[in-house]
Amino acid sequence: RAGGRALRLLPGRLRAPAARLGSRGAAEAQEDAEVNTRKKTFTEVQTERLEQAERTVLIKCPSRLNEKKLLQYLSSHGKINSHFFFENRGIHALIEFSEKSSVASLQDVVGIPKAVEHHVVPFKSRLFTFTLKNPVAKTAEETPVHLSPQSHIPVNELIQKLHKADSISSQMYILLNEYQLTEENIKLRFLACSLVQDFARAYFPDSTVKPFGSSVNTFGKLGCDVDMFLDFRDAQEHAAKMKKGPFEMEYQMKRLPSERLATQKILSVIGDCLDNFGPGCVSIQKILNARCPLVKFAHQPTGFQCDLSVSNSIAIRSSELLYIYGTLDPRVRALVFSLRCWARVHGLTNSIPGTWITNFSLTMMVMFFLQKRSPPIIPTLDQLKELADEKDKHIIGGYDCSFVSDLSKINPTKNTETLDELLCDFFEYFGNFDFRKNSLNLRRGKEVNKPESSPLYIWNPFEQDLNISKNVNQPQLEKFVAMARESAWILQKEDRTQRMINKEPWGLAALLIPFGKSNTNKMRRTKGMGSETIRSLLDSLKLSNASNLQKAVGK
Ligand code: CTP
Ligand code: MG
Repeated sequence: RAGGRALRLLPGRLRAPAARLGSRGAAEAQEDAEVNTRKKTFTEVQTERLEQAERTVLIKCPSRLNEKKLLQYLSSHGKINSHFFFENRGIHALIEFSEKSSVASLQDVVGIPKAVEHHVVPFKSRLFTFTLKNPVAKTAEETPVHLSPQSHIPVNELIQKLHKADSISSQMYILLNEYQLTEENIKLRFLACSLVQDFARAYFPDSTVKPFGSSVNTFGKLGCDVDMFLDFRDAQEHAAKMKKGPFEMEYQMKRLPSERLATQKILSVIGDCLDNFGPGCVSIQKILNARCPLVKFAHQPTGFQCDLSVSNSIAIRSSELLYIYGTLDPRVRALVFSLRCWARVHGLTNSIPGTWITNFSLTMMVMFFLQKRSPPIIPTLDQLKELADEKDKHIIGGYDCSFVSDLSKINPTKNTETLDELLCDFFEYFGNFDFRKNSLNLRRGKEVNKPESSPLYIWNPFEQDLNISKNVNQPQLEKFVAMARESAWILQKEDRTQRMINKEPWGLAALLIPFGKSNTNKMRRTKGMGSETIRSLLDSLKLSNASNLQKAVGK
């Protein structure tokens, strides 16, 4: 399993399942091998995963069972491509068939629960319960199954593991391996979307439900929400085709005064539908008056918290842009995961929305920092736009959102800096950033004058008049800067060898303990917090005087 995880660090981590090659010819196998060696485009990955999810079912199982017999039983409906078990309010099996028809064949023989206490809504989903007809007669063959973990280890356990590393860089890769989405978890996320899609299609047969955000942008960690959106684009493309020829036919459709109102109405009925008939869909909240209207719900069978919105093309472009950045160089994801974890530990980010920095903004800050390295580790958005061809053209709401989708067209970076250097420099860079005057522009890879007075201004790369970190207030920004400075100080001043010998947290581990708690570095520092210590801190951060902190954050 460890081997499998390490593999996911490699560029081809989202490759086609080898099992699928079985029934096909050598030429196709060759084709797949080529696809496997090059990095897939975002759309290729999405299409493959969405199709996979439609051939997938989820079965609640007894805690002890004969895995082989279950698979044999299911195989009578068709070939199984892959399967795994996981724990989530009981044991579940995710079963991916080779053919979609197998799901229908299975659904044909599945019974409907007897209405004893509750009346059931006869919606036939792809969620089943499997029971043994004679549970008392346990046989020796019924054993606990191997469970694939769907959550990451707690931070304190992670800190223990980090101790065994030999550099900060290897600590960062350990963190990445522990926290990143697994192959199984990604499948489960796409399944959750596919199950919601079944409901959406009851109303809109041409619609699709696709994940976006951290589930697909390579920066998702185990346990993060599933952002999903309802897409009607395929239906629109179909309509365009029908316009050929001398006549024009169009559907008679309900007309509403605004797109926003249509979005609200669609989300409202789908929210009701999930609430009333969706097996395991609970805590449905319709948040229809938000800038981007959405329905929030918990999907119990998969264990995910979900946010459903209606197609937001710009957010999808951001997801693809981040996918490209995350796939280009392994250091990118390692750095983002470490910083996201660091920010969470120090209360700079929070799972509830508020005036703090979001993971999305923090990720964009890391991307900006990587664009600013010399030589740059990732290209600017303008450079990616220059590499775009005809099929990459996307104009959304008047904004040019085009950029290259084929990763092989992007030259690899010549930058050879280690993650040790990058982590420390990130803290130093943002510890000294002139937030009062400057904003972060990822399109140009440049600091530019702030167009308005928001404490933190990060240009939305696609809607250039929007600030993605508009929610961040002055105290939160100050806290971020102070934490960044403290972290730079710890990394620069710690006696790593001594701390390793003393079995004290060092490097990344020292940064993942709330400052002022059991962090001996900080203890030592606050005890003798004389002017000497402050001066050395300021020196190490190349600050000329103490008022710079206030100045930098605009006080
Ligand atoms: N998004 C955006 N502008 C914002 C906030 C979000 O374009 N101001 C888009 C981004 O594409 C983002 C997605 O919406 O990835 C989902 O937002 P969110 O769930 O807040 O961020 P994630 O990237 O999914 O990170 P997390 O793991 O914290 O959910
Ligand atoms: Mg999200």
